[in-house]
Amino acid sequence: MREALCTLGNGYFATRGAAAESHADGTHYPGTYVAGCYDRLTSQVAGRAVENEDLVNLPNWLPLTFRVEGGDWFEPGTGELLEHRQELDLRRGLLERRFRVRDRQGRVTAVTERRLVSMDDPHLAALQATFLAENWAGRLEVRSAIDGRVSNAGVARYRQLDGRHLRPLEGGEAGAETIWLQVETVSSRMRVAEAARTRLLRDGQALPAARRAVVEDGLVAHELATDLAEGQEVTAEKVVALFTGRDRGVTESGLEARDRAAAAGAFEALLERHALAWEQLWRRCRIGLQDEGETAGTLNLHVFHLLQTLSWHTVDLDAGVPARGLHGEAYRGHVFWDELFVLPYLTWRLPELVRALLRYRHRRLPQARAEAAAAGYAGAMYPWQSGSNGREETQLVHLNPRSGRWLPDNSHLQRHVNIAIAYNIWHYYQVEGDVEFLCEYGAEMLLEIARFWASAASYDQAADRYEIRGVMGPDEYHDGYPDRDLPGLDNNAYTNVMAAWTLLRALDTLAVLPSDRRTELEERLGLRRQETDRWEELSRKLKVCFHDDVISQFEGYERLAELDWDGYRRRYGDIRRLDRILEAEGDSTNRYKASKQADVLMLFYLLSADELGKLLDGLGYPLDPATIPRTVDYYLRRTSHGSTLSSVVHAWVLARSDRTRSWSFFAEALASDVHDVQGGTTAEGIHLGAMVGTVDLAQRCYTGLEAREDVLWFNPSLPRELDGLDLSLRYRGHWGVHVRLTGDRVQVALAPSGAPPIKVCVNGQVAEIAPGETHEFAC
Ligand code: BGC
Repeated sequence: MREALCTLGNGYFATRGAAAESHADGTHYPGTYVAGCYDRLTSQVAGRAVENEDLVNLPNWLPLTFRVEGGDWFEPGTGELLEHRQELDLRRGLLERRFRVRDRQGRVTAVTERRLVSMDDPHLAALQATFLAENWAGRLEVRSAIDGRVSNAGVARYRQLDGRHLRPLEGGEAGAETIWLQVETVSSRMRVAEAARTRLLRDGQALPAARRAVVEDGLVAHELATDLAEGQEVTAEKVVALFTGRDRGVTESGLEARDRAAAAGAFEALLERHALAWEQLWRRCRIGLQDEGETAGTLNLHVFHLLQTLSWHTVDLDAGVPARGLHGEAYRGHVFWDELFVLPYLTWRLPELVRALLRYRHRRLPQARAEAAAAGYAGAMYPWQSGSNGREETQLVHLNPRSGRWLPDNSHLQRHVNIAIAYNIWHYYQVEGDVEFLCEYGAEMLLEIARFWASAASYDQAADRYEIRGVMGPDEYHDGYPDRDLPGLDNNAYTNVMAAWTLLRALDTLAVLPSDRRTELEERLGLRRQETDRWEELSRKLKVCFHDDVISQFEGYERLAELDWDGYRRRYGDIRRLDRILEAEGDSTNRYKASKQADVLMLFYLLSADELGKLLDGLGYPLDPATIPRTVDYYLRRTSHGSTLSSVVHAWVLARSDRTRSWSFFAEALASDVHDVQGGTTAEGIHLGAMVGTVDLAQRCYTGLEAREDVLWFNPSLPRELDGLDLSLRYRGHWGVHVRLTGDRVQVALAPSGAPPIKVCVNGQVAEIAPGETHEFAC
């Protein structure tokens, strides 16, 4: 868990905060991952061959250890650790570690280590360790290595699957100070090269050191030696360059890694540039809380890990939003719908990054079309889990660690991932007003997704309604009906209502496109009037079910049994993974009114009451305002919050009606990783959706921030626990929309620029603000 939370990264690659001298041993797990670097392997599981795609654990560049003449190399378990402290400096992206160790001969060495993964040059990382001979004099040896003998073995329940993705290619010394190693992934044949330049220094000056190279299959090392007097210290500095065959502007990864490592500056110089890059990123991305307490600290941690996963260095890559960051191997580095919780925040901070992340989806549009066609649909059906080429990567079977059984995995039926993509495109367009992006990429995806929903809907003549059958909503506890052989549910409310929403946004998009481009797209997609007329009809006739005066999660939900929540809580304590508990008992969550996470409530998360009301009205289901709180309450009593995303959504939907409960869900979401609330999952990677979801609660939910009808809206409702909030937003060409909210005021200041004035509305008061001007609203 500490390794995951102390991961350092720059949006291009990240390395877990494992001890430099450690290796994967059940306690430690060094891992280095490059955004978008995947590989597939086939394994035998439960008598069948299954193919799995992993975000590949790349050669470990961390190894740096020491020994004192005649002693053992320092590793976990050798020597007596007298002190050990690790500190993560979020402001500068620096991991510091101080420890003192006594070896078997009683010699005490104090070590101070600092580490960075450069936010300035995405290919560089550096490690610096200073060794102080506290009570001894003699020879100190330092060993600095690159270890390519690693595999993907970070998640216990995947260990029955093959995780050996790397083949060593070449390596050795490059010049006097540098070692290098190049490997290739087994099936994606991606070459990855790392080079490490190691020096010994005293008082900032390089020391002449005896040096020996060790070259073994898959591992290269330099061993350096120098003499120390008692009380004297020496610093080892390791500067690492990492390149892959996917990089742009390169000749060959090995050559680039060797050259870049050799040419890189010293640690202090790298740190200075790195700290400047972080300072600038913080200026753009920070959520400023007036009270710098624990909430502010955790929000900073969440922004920090977001930016280490996705940063300006991701913009030029072809990478998506990995659900667990670049921090571990859970979910194999796959891309789910979690970007729904990530992109809206980023849209207001780094819109160019959002464009890049949406382009990850656009590049995979042909594959999404193929997936739709193979399943008998039109348009584009994005996969539930996406990796390298956008093929469906959801596993076919998954292990219940509680029962030891491999079970069919139907989660690919979560077609609602398409909604997340459509929502993010539209939100981005609303905020940035970027018609060009819509013309080039956004519209095509939106239209193809709309087309998919239209083809997934079947007509029920008797009811004069359209239905979407055989899908799953976000609640993964329900993948089918207890009495039906085929998996999937009918008329999931979240899916149907948001499908109607998508169809309407697709029609809006056509209206917004310049006519020449619209014609081009219509020609290319073969889109005719008849089809768009049907979209309009569908947006009025999709079916939504109700029972007990609440929106039904899916058709037939009311027939499910009530779960004995108290009984299960008494017996099991933590029932977040009720699905595993029930399956181990020979039962199934499919039989019960029990949800893993927010499903119907996602509607209130994504849409304002007003927007949802209009949408349902259009569908012929006038919404009684009391239905919303009733529905929230109904499902809240039937949800186990087995996904960290659930607390984010509940905090959001309760923010205006029940501030106390909302705050406790917010606190729960904040704790997801810092306190590893699921008990063991943080070690396998952070929960990026929940992390950014909390930041977005502060940014959009508590402020009522919205971009609609060319107006920037605020409708603040700050929780009692927050005195005030500062945000620096990007909006329609403005790089500095500085917003300060307190209990009774909203101040908006526009940084000087050549961009046109903007309209801002706070609780009904509208003002036009020009660059360089500040306006204060009372509320
Ligand atoms: C949740 C999904 C989520 C996935 C990846 C699952 O536990 O149920 O909604 O997309 O984790 O974060």
